[in-house]
Amino acid sequence: MRLDKFISETTSLTRSLAKKALHRGEICCDGEVVKNSAFKVKVGCKVTLNGELLELRGPRYIMLHKPIGYICSTIDEEHPSVLSLLKLNNRDRLCIAGRLDLDTTGLVLITDDGQWSHRITSPKKECGKRYRVQLADPVEASLTEQFAKGVELRGERELTRPAKLEIHSPTEVLLTIHEGKYHQVKRMFAAVGNKVIGLHRESVGEIELDPALEPGQWRYLSENEIKSV
Ligand code: URA
Repeated sequence: MRLDKFISETTSLTRSLAKKALHRGEICCDGEVVKNSAFKVKVGCKVTLNGELLELRGPRYIMLHKPIGYICSTIDEEHPSVLSLLKLNNRDRLCIAGRLDLDTTGLVLITDDGQWSHRITSPKKECGKRYRVQLADPVEASLTEQFAKGVELRGERELTRPAKLEIHSPTEVLLTIHEGKYHQVKRMFAAVGNKVIGLHRESVGEIELDPALEPGQWRYLSENEIKSV
């Protein structure tokens, strides 16, 4: 691979910024300063930028504990993007596999593997997402059956797909859904006359939010977690 391409693949520098770094003599290959952007990087060659080793890596798979106040958009808008919590190179290649609202906390999966992300977000794949929900009003036991059958969301023709409701207390429940319509959980409770006042995603498929992660913290997924999707 050409050296300028290698640098842009392994850092946040574009190819033209990589060329500038090369001209400034900031890049070494196996300890020698290299200024030629067309230099071919061979397997095993140690490339450094200002002394820091650059490494090519495969796709990244990340779990983040999303705090309140961050948006699941790839760019900062009125509020900061969850991606700003990851101090990583090439953040622009990452996509968010299943979004959470600004005021929702919990598990967000982030990757630069588009197919893997699709397996989580595609409604056809029926990947379950479990939410812990705090409600304004107490729920009745009959809601479990109602959600299992499906409810009609405002503005939608079809009923929601069967969802699993576990009632922990009159105002705290666990809800597992297998689709991801816009504001789905909030709209499901609105459809039965209740209001969500706290929403936290605990799991996506078999991947559980790591209890060791504080809001705002993240880690790479394990091989088993990646394979489970
Ligand atoms: N459903 C919602 O209403 N909000 C979320 O953030 C996720 C699911």
